[in-house]
Amino acid sequence: MPPKLPDFVDRKLKALEEESFKPRKNGKPLVVGNKAPGPGAVVLQSNDYLNISNHPHIYSEQIRVLETIGKEMVMSAVYLFEGSEKSVFEKNMAEYAGLESAVLCQSGWAANVGLLQVIADVGVPVYIDMFAHMSLWEGIKAAGAYAVPFRHNDIGHMERLIQQHGQGITIIDSLYSTIGDIAPLDDFIDVTERYGCVSVVDESHSLGGYGYKGAGLIHERGLTDRVHFITASLAKAFAGRAGIIFSSSHFARFFPYMAYPAIFSSTLLPHEIAGLQATLEVISNADDRRVQLHENSRFFREGLDALDYNITSQSYIVSIESGLESDTEMLRDALEEHNVFGSVFLAPATPKNRSLIRFSLHSGMSTVELEYVLKVCDEIRDKTGMWDWKSTKKKVLSKNGR
Ligand SMILES: Cc1ncc(COP(=O)(O)O)c(C=O)c1O
Repeated sequence: MPPKLPDFVDRKLKALEEESFKPRKNGKPLVVGNKAPGPGAVVLQSNDYLNISNHPHIYSEQIRVLETIGKEMVMSAVYLFEGSEKSVFEKNMAEYAGLESAVLCQSGWAANVGLLQVIADVGVPVYIDMFAHMSLWEGIKAAGAYAVPFRHNDIGHMERLIQQHGQGITIIDSLYSTIGDIAPLDDFIDVTERYGCVSVVDESHSLGGYGYKGAGLIHERGLTDRVHFITASLAKAFAGRAGIIFSSSHFARFFPYMAYPAIFSSTLLPHEIAGLQATLEVISNADDRRVQLHENSRFFREGLDALDYNITSQSYIVSIESGLESDTEMLRDALEEHNVFGSVFLAPATPKNRSLIRFSLHSGMSTVELEYVLKVCDEIRDKTGMWDWKSTKKKVLSKNGR
């Protein structure tokens, strides 16, 4: 048995446990349901939006590289030379997204923390949407900068804060991972430019799913020449384990020697990079999957809306906002009883008392599956107390024009 921990660590662990573990009726934290999905279950938890994670081209490229090169490169990326598989992939990704350069990172988390650690600094205000991903907030902390949060999707609020605090860095997600709504990208870029700020857009959930060949929302809106940095997790539509930063070539050249997550953490293995390169090829040629994904999403959102759920989604991330944790627990259990599995989100991933169940849709879903989930959502409305949720009441009020 390891030695007993001193009181100061013990106290901290207890406080964290109370705050984040909080066992529910089943003795587990709220995010963990009662049973694992069995055969025939509809599981809407994976962010593999284009349903490509088992694609044969991606598998065969990884196997080919494992068999020919192996895993020889187990080290930090700082030791890599021009012309490595990593730099070739980065060049291809930059061309795909329409920015000058790209830097491959070990995860979306490492990309965001590394980027902000490098570009922010003590005393620099960082204007960040309240719903932006946790990794961006951690990057601000790593840089010793200070976060100036603005109300979700309220660029007018962001502008007023810039007028108070001055020039700094502005940050949004293009597509929000909790409720699936899209940021006002044009307004964001306009205001960022007006005050000489530096823009960072996290496209983790839109890369692959939107724009020409899936190049993302910034590309779709014609804003690539006006944004300073785009970051993305490649563990969503790209269905891998990596992250990326799109930037100027000057920044990309120096990032591996400046960002701590890049210097002090080993780089991806050659077969992982080969898998990502194959994924890029698959995604670039996946217009049919994108069309189906958006069609599935529209059908599902409209179905839930017709059932009087308050759906704020504009995308394939569709969430039911049950609000109180006890209500989310009831909703999770009711869905599970019918073999439907979404992801539970609660604080700190959402504001307190705004917990929800997120459905991540994908292009491979059949109409039968979509209709089944809608039927379940219809049947459980009374049982889950859905009519009393804050989100439902808000919708009823707005429907009645109040
Ligand atoms: C918007 C956003 N950014 C960054 C990340 C981190 O990505 P990764 O899982 O690759 O570390 C995530 C994943 O949850 C995300 O949703």
